[in-house]
Amino acid sequence: MDILETIKQRYSCRSYQNKPIEPEKLETLMEAARLAPSARNVQDWRFVIVTDAQTRRRLQHAAADQEFVGQAPVILAACSCTNKRMNLCGQPYASINVSIALEHIALAATSLGLATCWIGSFKPQSVRKILNIPTHIEIVELMTIGYAADEPKSPKRLSLDQIACHEKWNY
Ligand SMILES: Cc1cc2nc3c(=O)[nH]c(=O)nc-3n(C[C@H](O)[C@H](O)[C@H](O)COP(=O)(O)O)c2cc1C
Repeated sequence: MDILETIKQRYSCRSYQNKPIEPEKLETLMEAARLAPSARNVQDWRFVIVTDAQTRRRLQHAAADQEFVGQAPVILAACSCTNKRMNLCGQPYASINVSIALEHIALAATSLGLATCWIGSFKPQSVRKILNIPTHIEIVELMTIGYAADEPKSPKRLSLDQIACHEKWNY
């Protein structure tokens, strides 16, 4: 699938079929994450792949009780094993590196006929407890993955001239 077509097809899916993801597809998603770029190539992402129904239900409660979270056959907990920041710009490795890998996953999932949703509304301390994640590991985001039971909505987006200008800041 053409990359821009895949980008256009991705949307936040908030209703999933009761159908597991094939192990080969799940492996392809993790491969897409593995190949992501990262600052200094630290590859600090670590994923916990959750399929157990009871654990997913507990994660749903930790994620503001968003019902579709427990409904999705797979929930990823996307973590980072570094709390370093980039020397000059000061940006954290964790959120940037893990987010790139997660979006690789989201786009790869779309190209395989799967749907995803980023989940930022979660209590890290609860997720840590449920998944046994050590305290030195940063839990960056959760992501639901599965076969969609809803229809894509057309995205509301700013226009190009609202988000990009040429040569100097001009907004
Ligand atoms: C970092 C991040 C956190 C998000 N957290 C949630 C969430 O907790 N629950 C939810 O339903 N959607 C969540 N979303 C989805 C956004 O609401 C969605 O991406 C946005 O409205 C644009 O819609 P689209 O993804 O369908 O294009 C999150 C998205 C991002 C990138």
